[in-house]
Amino acid sequence: MGNSGKARAHTNIALIKYWGKADETYIIPMNNSLSVTLDRFYTETKVTFDERYTKDTLILNGEAVNESEATKINKFMNIVREQGGTSMYAYIESDNFVPTAAGLASSASAYAALAAACNEALNLELTDKDLSRLARRGSGSASRSIFGGFVEWEKGHNDKTSYSFPIDADHWEDDLAMIFVVINNKSKKVSSRTGMSLTRDTSRFYQYWLDHVDEDITAVKHAIKQKDFAQLGEVIEANGLRMHATNLGAQPPFTYMVSDSYQVMEIVHQCREAGYPCYFTMDAGPNVKILVEKKNQKAVIDALHKSFDEEQVIASDITRTGVEIIE
Ligand code: DP6
Repeated sequence: MGNSGKARAHTNIALIKYWGKADETYIIPMNNSLSVTLDRFYTETKVTFDERYTKDTLILNGEAVNESEATKINKFMNIVREQGGTSMYAYIESDNFVPTAAGLASSASAYAALAAACNEALNLELTDKDLSRLARRGSGSASRSIFGGFVEWEKGHNDKTSYSFPIDADHWEDDLAMIFVVINNKSKKVSSRTGMSLTRDTSRFYQYWLDHVDEDITAVKHAIKQKDFAQLGEVIEANGLRMHATNLGAQPPFTYMVSDSYQVMEIVHQCREAGYPCYFTMDAGPNVKILVEKKNQKAVIDALHKSFDEEQVIASDITRTGVEIIE
């Protein structure tokens, strides 16, 4: 159909974290970040623009979204309309392909898929770089989900200069996997948006974070070049923990870690001692993600199953496929 487009984008997990914005309107980050794109979790989104629509409608997994989600989407669609020189509203149908009830849906795959679907529907002919800039306006991490494999988000200093690009890893991604340990959380959620803003504004440890993140990016890129898994792992584990440490220094302090998160970290340590190198990272929630070489994936999953249920442990390959038009 004339004014419609459908796209699929995969979620990504940061190995070097994005934490804090320099500009909240344009979503310009305080630091560069670096991620891997995951095969197993993705979003498919179809957008149709039509002059007869009187508002934007978003149907997520078959259901209308709540007021606050709708407002966020409408803001993003205004940016799209401005770029496309159109006043048409859109009907958006989006499906998240994540294991049920795992709480792993991500704004990264959502806005990457939406940006690409809009690009198709309105014939904007955006390059991947410009798609990354557009997706960034919906959610910072979405700028990285335009690409597959290892991806770096260059912080830049304004809308034009802040975008992501893929890092050539000579197909090393194919040897790696990420294991998700889904942890039940009864405490109140602090969104990444709220958490990073509070931390940037109030944490005594935040400057230390900023001062060291570029070293981590350099070290990770070096490890990728050398295909040195131990070096990669040590850097990303330390970077993730340092990000979480900034939250402990915020006013008021907060943490995303719960006791089960620590238990997973302990199992990761035990796996390493047993000769199965693997390294953890965490985002704005209690789930723990473990980076492992595929050859050791089964050993680590078996170790996790001694303490966690089958459905709490989900492994994914890393995909080298970026966002795709599927209709
Ligand atoms: C901890 O991209 O969700 O996952 O830009 O406000 O939408 P907004 O935030 P978001 O933050 C992700 C934070 C993180 C680290 C990362 O993915 O780099």
